[in-house]
Amino acid sequence: MRTYLLCLLPWAAAVTAAVLQPRQDVGNVSLQHPELFSLHWQMLEQNSTSGFETPMVDFLSGYLEEKGLTVELQPVQNPILAYNVRRQNIYAYMGTNRTCRLIMNSHTDVVPPWYPPSDNDTDIFGRGANDAKGSIAAQVIAFLELQDAGVLRDGDVCLLYDVGEERYGDGMQTFVDSLTWKPEFIMTGEPTESFQATGHKGSININVTAIGETAHSSVPQYGRNAILEIMDFLPKLLDLTSTFPLDSFHGNTTLSLSSITGGTISNQVADRAMAVVNSRVGVPAKQIWDIITSQVGDVPNIYISRIGDSSNPLAMDVIEGWRPKKIMPYGTDLGAWTVDNLKFLMGVGSIATAHSA
Ligand SMILES: *[C@@H]1O[C@H](CO)[C@@H](O)[C@H](O)[C@H]1NC(C)=O
Ligand SMILES: *[C@@H]1O[C@H](CO)[C@@H](O)[C@H](O)[C@H]1NC(C)=O
Ligand SMILES: *[C@@H]1O[C@H](CO)[C@@H](O)[C@H](O)[C@H]1NC(C)=O
Ligand SMILES: *[C@@H]1O[C@H](CO)[C@@H](O)[C@H](O)[C@H]1NC(C)=O
Ligand SMILES: *[C@@H]1O[C@H](CO)[C@@H](O)[C@H](O)[C@H]1NC(C)=O
Ligand SMILES: *[C@@H]1O[C@H](CO)[C@@H](O)[C@H](O)[C@H]1NC(C)=O
Repeated sequence: MRTYLLCLLPWAAAVTAAVLQPRQDVGNVSLQHPELFSLHWQMLEQNSTSGFETPMVDFLSGYLEEKGLTVELQPVQNPILAYNVRRQNIYAYMGTNRTCRLIMNSHTDVVPPWYPPSDNDTDIFGRGANDAKGSIAAQVIAFLELQDAGVLRDGDVCLLYDVGEERYGDGMQTFVDSLTWKPEFIMTGEPTESFQATGHKGSININVTAIGETAHSSVPQYGRNAILEIMDFLPKLLDLTSTFPLDSFHGNTTLSLSSITGGTISNQVADRAMAVVNSRVGVPAKQIWDIITSQVGDVPNIYISRIGDSSNPLAMDVIEGWRPKKIMPYGTDLGAWTVDNLKFLMGVGSIATAHSA
């Protein structure tokens, strides 16, 4: 299998590197691989924002079935989402052996808003072109070509395309929770510019809530304005980055203000304001949370808590002597894998242009 893996990954990388990298080559590559580009384009046409992945799941599972693979659809339930939206992980393999040694994986959802694909002869545009439908296209075509070449046997490689990665992490969590066996290798496709990722940071979402006292807005001096309090607090929190420890492998820990809301109506002093701050951590999440709570945890009228589960930084496996390596600043579904196996992270496109308009 190791040899299969070694021959599979360069193939996927060659295809993936070609997909979005050197502009003048894209036209040529698209002629060499019409199937690759057509699959990529058709996936971009599916509106699959996190939580509403049905069109993409139906398209991709249909495509894989048409290619003769066995396709399982695993329902993913999330109590905070609309109960009537069908959400499923796709798990596909050759024949009947579903306990593969290598799982090739990426996610079917994209960040909102979805917009349709377009191109200008050298570049492909569209929500998810990088993140991560380019990686799915490369993986699927690499898989099918290796299968046609007779290199793959049943039980070698399974494909896993999960929902919810961009927002909830619920697809991969559901899959990992359902595992009754241990794959030897997992390879996740995310925009790494075709570098082998050596590791990525963890993440904490922080809920900052300011509670004030309401009063009529004609007499603001009788109230305590929660918006002003949170405006005063947030720079203090963000300034803590300079005190965070630097990890020589994973790099620094950042804080980013993600959203802010507050107040109710115009004739009332705002008695409530909320912000979400995201931290990408280069050291264990608990270490950063401890610094935050000890430094700014007891500011009057300000309440901080964590939203959801935090994740720790992760080190990835690489194949020595192969493609160049790089550390990635963002988190991926690999964080959900608590099993002890070899984990690779590699895909097409750059995070620099992911999630952008
Ligand atoms: C395509 O390939 C040819 C021959 O290798 C090369 O001359 C040309 O610059 C390439 N690019 C495009 C966009 O045609
Ligand atoms: C994409 O799907 C989402 C969720 O169903 C929907 O809210 C949005 O309007 C759709 N976007 C377009 C352009 O159709
Ligand atoms: C396609 O668009 C990209 C991004 O705007 C640009 O860099 C590139 O030069 C364009 N290619 C052509 C042939 O216009
Ligand atoms: C399925 O594949 C795995 C990994 O290649 C192998 O260990 C296992 O024996 C296979 N199971 C069956 C029933 O063939
Ligand atoms: C943030 O904290 C406040 C106060 O504890 C709570 O009411 C609110 O539901 C929390 N929001 C989230 C998104 O966790
Ligand atoms: C973290 O590191 C990046 C990359 O070296 C740098 O651009 C950024 O300014 C640093 N941020 C902090 C808060 O140190």
